Amino acid sequence: MTLPTIPEARSLAQDLLEDALPRRWSHVQAVGTKAERICELLDSPDGQVLSVAAWLHDVGYSPDLVSTGFHSLDGARWLRTQGIDDRVAALVAHHSCAWLEAMERGLDSELHEEFPREESVTTDALCYCDMTTGPDGQDFDASYRLTEIRSRYGPDHLVTRFITRAEPEILAAVRRTEGRLSSLHPR
Ligand SMILES: [Fe+2]
Repeated sequence: MTLPTIPEARSLAQDLLEDALPRRWSHVQAVGTKAERICELLDSPDGQVLSVAAWLHDVGYSPDLVSTGFHSLDGARWLRTQGIDDRVAALVAHHSCAWLEAMERGLDSELHEEFPREESVTTDALCYCDMTTGPDGQDFDASYRLTEIRSRYGPDHLVTRFITRAEPEILAAVRRTEGRLSSLHPR
């Protein structure tokens, strides 16, 4: 299993998303770039792990990879078949509280059996990068981002139920990361 370089991860994501899902690619570019910017939060080599996972976190939306329709699991499984580092695959599998979405989808046993969930500064930072970035790559406050997701999917959608359930955990991870960033760069 190999940890790709950041440019390798970026180009893998680009191949899978740019033409097929240009809007998703805009989001991913902003998430990946944000992760590269906040790498200083983390000890090396975690900075690289964070950036690589950020570039690859949404590859499971690629039409080439869809299998279960649960993008976190589909993406993580594909990364594993490509020989990508286990930890990166597991971070992608569980990113942004995906284990709660897995419960809504009845896929939580499969997710947990195949990919261990880590709770760490890196997990929080990945959630922060994803949840403070809008669908077109805009910078969003996390609460606004959650509202945007709910309105994009509509009140009865599984993703809306997941987001409502995950909101406290997502906001806590974002706030922890913001606290770490402000202790590095006090105003
Ligand atoms: Fe994302």
